[in-house]
Parts: sequence; structure tokens; C-alpha cells
Amino acid sequence: MPVITEIEDLRRLHQKRTPKMFYDYAESGSWTEQTFRENSSDFDLIRLRQRVAVDMSNRSTASTMIGHDVAMPVALAPVGLTGMQRADGEIKAARAAEKFGVPFTLSTMSICSIEDVAAHTSKPFWFQVYTLKDDDFMTRLFQRAKDAKCSAIVITVDLQLLGQRHKDLKNGLSAPPKFTVKSVADMMTKVQWGLEMLGTKRRFFGNIVGHVAGIDDPSSLSAWTAQAFDQSLDWERIKQFRKMWDGPVIIKGILDAEDAKMAAKVGADAIVVSNHGGRQLDGALSSIRMLEPILDAVGDKIEVHLDSGIRSGQDVLKALAMGAKGTYIGRAFVNGLGAMGEAGVTRALEVIHKELDSTMALCGERDVKALGRHNLLVPKNFSGEWG
Ligand code: GLV
Repeated sequence: MPVITEIEDLRRLHQKRTPKMFYDYAESGSWTEQTFRENSSDFDLIRLRQRVAVDMSNRSTASTMIGHDVAMPVALAPVGLTGMQRADGEIKAARAAEKFGVPFTLSTMSICSIEDVAAHTSKPFWFQVYTLKDDDFMTRLFQRAKDAKCSAIVITVDLQLLGQRHKDLKNGLSAPPKFTVKSVADMMTKVQWGLEMLGTKRRFFGNIVGHVAGIDDPSSLSAWTAQAFDQSLDWERIKQFRKMWDGPVIIKGILDAEDAKMAAKVGADAIVVSNHGGRQLDGALSSIRMLEPILDAVGDKIEVHLDSGIRSGQDVLKALAMGAKGTYIGRAFVNGLGAMGEAGVTRALEVIHKELDSTMALCGERDVKALGRHNLLVPKNFSGEWG
């Protein structure tokens, strides 16, 4: 059993044990990957303020996100194709999140369907909605999420079309994948992955196949996905989605203070400051840099969460101390899943929790809810030097 002390250990194992096509899908950004890189490197610019001789016994990382109790304010982000990193990946990740006491968000573009994940978990999860053109499909999707007792809807607003991801294009990662001799040969070396995949029936987009007229098998998916995303999406349409869901609505993919104001105006309960993990508009600023201007604009009206770039408990602490009420991990949990299945997701959560807890202690804090700017040393103009 390999010794896992940090997310990087899981990433290395994920790379070793998963076909390149799927590993690259997770560990990449769009175009030059500048935003993908800066999402993480900008966290490194923020330093922590060490405090000593402060009673740091009896610490707590417990908090709330949209009023839901969480063992730590770290949710699992919606990640498409999670079930290709490991067979039944969404079910495994949801179970690990449930046991740990953090929210799991199922992607519309998941492999396991909403119904499948609901049948294999006992607590409600969050469901992420992509805004597709097919009204009928959207209405049924909301109903399916309701029937599955999902406890929040996360509407992603930054993917009206796909950012160009060179690795995916070169690897033939499309829907359905274009397998080459090279990619099949690579898959055959990932024995455990292959055996598990052969043992499951969940290998295609579970929320789509069989639920869209004319899409009964994966070979018809390609044409559908090419035109499915609603490029005409606007705030009016988002307002309609808000009305279609009685419970909490989280709008994900906000990177601009004006857009944050619009999200508050259409009645979202929370927003996620996110650039989609650097997978959409390359050249955009990192999420952590944009957090403060967005908090200044809407922080008194709406809950603000942060996604993109978080790879450690220190990153979580920095985001919370900058003012986010909650954070999301995507690649960090997928690394765990690809490395060791459900146990790997649990390990990723344990690693992040331990880092958050001990960093909090060394900053002289006992309660995650008490973190604030007083814990940080932030470069002057960290958020304001761009005009
Ligand atoms: C989908 O959400 C993706 O980023 O590939």
C-alpha cells in the first residue's frame, strides 16, 4: 500500500493507473493553460500569518454551505466523465463524500446517472445542470433531480461552448471517444482499470443516453453534443431555471463582479467564483484573485464560494480567510479516485482536512468560521492591479 501524505501522491498514482486519455482530460486546461496554472500559483503568492502561544486545543472545521452542515467547507465539484477515471466513479466519490460529511455535486455529463447515484447513497447530493437547448430534456432533468431528492441545483454558466483543450483533441477524447491503436494499447496496460470497466454497465453519459429523443446508444452522442449546449443562454433563461427549482440554487462560473450582481439579482442562493478550473477562457484571471472584488460587489447579499486551483488544505484556508464561505475540489478528488477508487477519494478528503486543521492551528485559530484576512499576508494589489 503506497504511503499517501499529499494530493501529489494521489496524482502520480492516478497518472500511473488510468488511461492517458482520461488522466489528461482531468489534468489539463484550455489553450496555453495559463489560467489553469495561475489558479494554483496565485495561491502561492498569499502567505500565512504565524501566531504562537494561542490555545489551539479543541479545533473545529465544521461549517455550513447554503445552510447545509459540512464537516469542512469543501464540496466535491461537478466533474464530467468521473466514471471513466474509475468504473462507477461518481457512485464511489458520492459515497466517500457522504461518509466524510461534505457535499457531492453530480455533473450532468457524468457516467453514472442521477438515479444510479441516488440508489447507491443515503444522503441527498447536489446536482449540476448544464444549460442545454432541449427544453423538454431540461424540464425532465430538473424533475429527475427532484425525484432523486437532490438538495441543491448548481447551474454552470461558463460553458456555452467548449474551450479548446489541445490534449483532449490530440487524444481523441470526444463523445464518443475516437480510439486509436495507441490509446487502446495504453488502455490495455491499465489492467485494474480495464477489469473494473468490464465489470460495470456504466460506460456512457448516464444522464443523457436513453433520455434524449434519438440518443439511444453512445454512437449517436457525437452529433448531439456538438449542438446541444445553449449558446443563447442569458440571464432571462437562468431566471426561468431558478423558478423551476424550489430549493437552493448555486450559480457556478462567475468571475466578474457585474456577473455576480446579476446572479444575485436572479435569486441565486450562492455563487461559485470559478473559471472552470482553467478549462474555458484561458487568459482569464485566477479565481482566487477575483474573489475579493466579487465579495465587495455581492458579499452582503449572497453566499460566495470558490472553485479552481485548490489542491491542499492550505489553499482551502486561504480561500476561506479571503472571505469565501465554501470551496470546491475537482482534480484533487479525481486524483484520489483514479489512484485508489472510493478509498482514494476518502484519502484525498483526509489529506485536505488534516492540512486545513493543522494549518489553522499554526495560524492560531481553533474555528474554521473565525478565519479572516487577519490570518493572511496578501501582496498589495493582489486583486486590484488589473484594470
Ligand atoms: C466539462 O465540464 C469539462 O470541463 O470538460
